[in-house]
Amino acid sequence: MITVRVPAKVNVQLGVGGLRADGFHDLANVFFAVALGDEVTATESSEGVTLSCSGPDADAVPLDDSNLAARAARLLAAHHGIADPGVHLHIAKAIPVAGGMAGGSADGAAALVACDALWKLETPFETLLELAAELGSDVPFALLGGVALGRGRGEILEPLPVEGTFHWVFAVADGGLSTPAVFRECDRLRDEAGTGSAATDVPTPDADPALLAALADGDAVGLAAALANDLQPAALSLRPALADTLRAGTDAGALGALVSGSGPTCAFLAKDADGAAAVAAALRASGTCRTAHATYGPVPGAAVA
Ligand code: C5P
Repeated sequence: MITVRVPAKVNVQLGVGGLRADGFHDLANVFFAVALGDEVTATESSEGVTLSCSGPDADAVPLDDSNLAARAARLLAAHHGIADPGVHLHIAKAIPVAGGMAGGSADGAAALVACDALWKLETPFETLLELAAELGSDVPFALLGGVALGRGRGEILEPLPVEGTFHWVFAVADGGLSTPAVFRECDRLRDEAGTGSAATDVPTPDADPALLAALADGDAVGLAAALANDLQPAALSLRPALADTLRAGTDAGALGALVSGSGPTCAFLAKDADGAAAVAAALRASGTCRTAHATYGPVPGAAVA
């Protein structure tokens, strides 16, 4: 039996470029791995690839072949010519489901690492990264962890230097948001703004030098000022109440706030661990979210526990 711990991510910068012919968007995506994470346990099985899930949101997790953990196990087996893979994967779920924190992607990455160890395959890390990119845009980063710039559709990764620890709070909403729907709303808002077509007239985004400097310097105030998410207007358009959540966190003393990825989870940067605990308590009492978690990062990517 092998257990793998895997982090959630927040995008401290999510620059969204034009809509590509393949339906994806070119990104300048600064991923940041946080300690809030899932655990995936792989056990030998003679009944094919099977799944179970525990945790407060377990009912919202699909246990069929659409689950990225099951797809990861099958993809790894196929890569190694294993015709009839057998594994049971148990997901201990702490990452919000459909929350903009890449929880499904994290489970896919964890399943790759867990099955690789269980089946004693010793797949090179570069190959795991390639398989991860086939599974989804955010899966490679869940393998890598730390802080990284993601280009292309997010899968071409460059690790970034970062100093010290940053303290975060995540406000979990009731219900999720569909990532494709949020990207579509982003394109619709851009077309509606009349500044040109979302497909052809959006410049390729780049990482913000001020944000990179704040990460490298361990400067929480500087990072808070540079937080940016091009999907935020779309998430707010689909879920206007998120504006109240963002305001409740900043009113409680957060240094900065933004929607995490495609949302609806909202992320708050705090001065220190005590500040994060205070912001989380205020958010839980505010009635603007289902719950709130204080955590920290960066942390490593998917690894055997
Ligand atoms: O890669 P992944 O399966 O996680 O992407 C889910 C959906 O999010 C894509 O089908 C696409 O609609 C949208 N997406 C995008 N541009 C990206 C990443 C995702 O439009 N760079």
